[in-house]
Amino acid sequence: MMISETMAAKLNEQVNAEFYSSYLYLGMACWFDGQNLKVFARRFFQQAEEEWEHGMKILKYLLEVGAAVQLKEIACPKQDWKSPEEIIETTYNHEIHVTNLINDLMRAAVEESDYATQSFLKWFVDEQVEEVSSMNELLALVRMAGPERIMLVEQRLAAMMG
Ligand code: FEO
Repeated sequence: MMISETMAAKLNEQVNAEFYSSYLYLGMACWFDGQNLKVFARRFFQQAEEEWEHGMKILKYLLEVGAAVQLKEIACPKQDWKSPEEIIETTYNHEIHVTNLINDLMRAAVEESDYATQSFLKWFVDEQVEEVSSMNELLALVRMAGPERIMLVEQRLAAMMG
C-alpha cells in the first residue's frame, strides 16, 4: 500500500462524505422538481451527479494506491425544505463544510509527507473554490430576487447553465 492506514481511513471517510453530498443534492433536486422549479432541479440533479463522481474519484485513488475501500452507510438527508433560499443557504454552508474536510485531508497529507495524496487532493482544493464561489453567487441572486421573483433566478440559471 502506497499510503498510510490513517490516510486510507480518512480518504474512505471522504468517499462517504461525497456520496452523502450527492444524496443531499438529489433530495433537493426532487424538492425543486415538485415545486415546478425545473431549472433549479436540473442544476441540483447535475450537482448530485458531480458529487457521486467526486466520491468515485477518491474510491479509484484508494484502489490505485492499493488501499482497501470501505463503503459505509450513507445517512438519510433532510428533505423537508421551506424555500429555495433555505436550500441554497444550506448548500453553501455544506460546501464550506466539505472545503474544511478537504483542507483537513490536505493538512494530514502534508504532515505525513505523503506527496502522492497531496498531488491527488489538489484537484479537490481547486474544485471547492469553484463550488463555494458559484453557490455564493446563486445565494446572492436568490436573496436579491426574493420569493416573488424566483422565476427570474430560474431564467438566469438557465442562461448560466447553457
Ligand atoms: Fe464534492 Fe461539492 O464537493
